[in-house]
Amino acid sequence: MAYRVVQWATGNQGVEAIRAVLDRPDLELVGAKVYSEEKEGVDVGVLAGRDPVGVAATGDVEAILALGADCVCYFPRLTSLDEVCRILASGANVVTTAFLFHPRSLPPADLARLEAACAEGGTSVHGTGLNPGNLSGVLPLALSGMSRSIEQVTLQERADWSFYESTHITFDNMRFGRPPEEVTEEASEFLRFNSGIFKEEVALLGEALGAGLDGITTDVELVTAQRDHDIFGIRLAAGTVAGQRWHWRGVREGRTLVEIETLWTVGGEYPAHWPAPLDGWTLTIEGEPSLRAHVLSLMSYQRDLPISEHVRAASIATAMQAVNAIPAVCEAPAGVRTMADLPLIRSGAGFGNAPAGPGR
Ligand SMILES: NC(=O)c1ccc[n+]([C@@H]2O[C@H](COP(=O)([O-])OP(=O)(O)OC[C@H]3O[C@@H](n4cnc5c(N)ncnc54)[C@H](OP(=O)(O)O)[C@@H]3O)[C@@H](O)[C@H]2O)c1
Repeated sequence: MAYRVVQWATGNQGVEAIRAVLDRPDLELVGAKVYSEEKEGVDVGVLAGRDPVGVAATGDVEAILALGADCVCYFPRLTSLDEVCRILASGANVVTTAFLFHPRSLPPADLARLEAACAEGGTSVHGTGLNPGNLSGVLPLALSGMSRSIEQVTLQERADWSFYESTHITFDNMRFGRPPEEVTEEASEFLRFNSGIFKEEVALLGEALGAGLDGITTDVELVTAQRDHDIFGIRLAAGTVAGQRWHWRGVREGRTLVEIETLWTVGGEYPAHWPAPLDGWTLTIEGEPSLRAHVLSLMSYQRDLPISEHVRAASIATAMQAVNAIPAVCEAPAGVRTMADLPLIRSGAGFGNAPAGPGR
């Protein structure tokens, strides 16, 4: 019997998840919750660029909850704890790429609500993805298995958002293209939220590796565009924010032990004073021994593809880390499950479409 799955939000990652679920015999797509009116009633297969599969997308939350799914892939642009608690209490597990990476970092009242919803539904919730996710959680923990001792863990992400087709996230949520004074945690609820999820990741690593962090700091350096840019039809004007360099540092007695740094640009004007550009993610564990891994996700290292194809790679990676976790999350004890306490998540389809691990 396959796990019955609902896709909640069908943006870049949502469609990648739908394709994966449709291709997996151990997963069955039973519904999709959409926000866009024009997608309501549209066949979910069609939304993912496939043949119709006989499942219509809906904006009706009650109808989605009534499906009695085993798991909801919760990938919306803006999150709602109320919504997730309702899903969990209804008896459906949740995997999400949007938040809930380290529940113990949440306000205690929010965590208590989540745990109560999990207990009511006999369900689990797991936040994961690429970063936050595998590269800032799973990979450092996996590499740390080769360490005798650790002095510092750093993850540097270098990305040009010009290739990320979610313009709502780039311009509305992340505020690229705005004056610098509007691109601060103080000025934006979303930037505070976004900062919070990276801090959760720092806290997760610190806790899992026994860092004894006594605080997590945030800072951002903003860089403005020298000239106008056109990003998927949206104008980013000269003088507005085109670069955001964030640091989230987990510290103990003033020393940085765990750090996530982002070097984010839109429009490709890479600041000369930033570290030499190396697209992708560089993870460094300073310790005995010191280890470094660089990850770059492309659609292929063997086939010659246009750049427009490669841009999907990060969305696929993000969505798959959640989709591949579905069986483990459905089988986990009720509660909030992290990358540090679930088993290692592997590709469910592996080299073919048959699940690599025990299915249902
Ligand atoms: N963990 C990671 O590594 C990682 C990396 C990148 C992004 N993310 C997060 O993953 C999530 C999905 O990203 P994405 O790339 O798929 O984004 P996206 O392409 O912008 O899609 C997001 C979807 O959210 C839905 N939406 C529209 N209005 C909304 C509203 N008012 N409130 C809530 N949802 C609304 C839409 O669904 P419909 O089209 O179905 O109507 C939209 O397609 C986001 O929360 C993003 O921040 C995580």
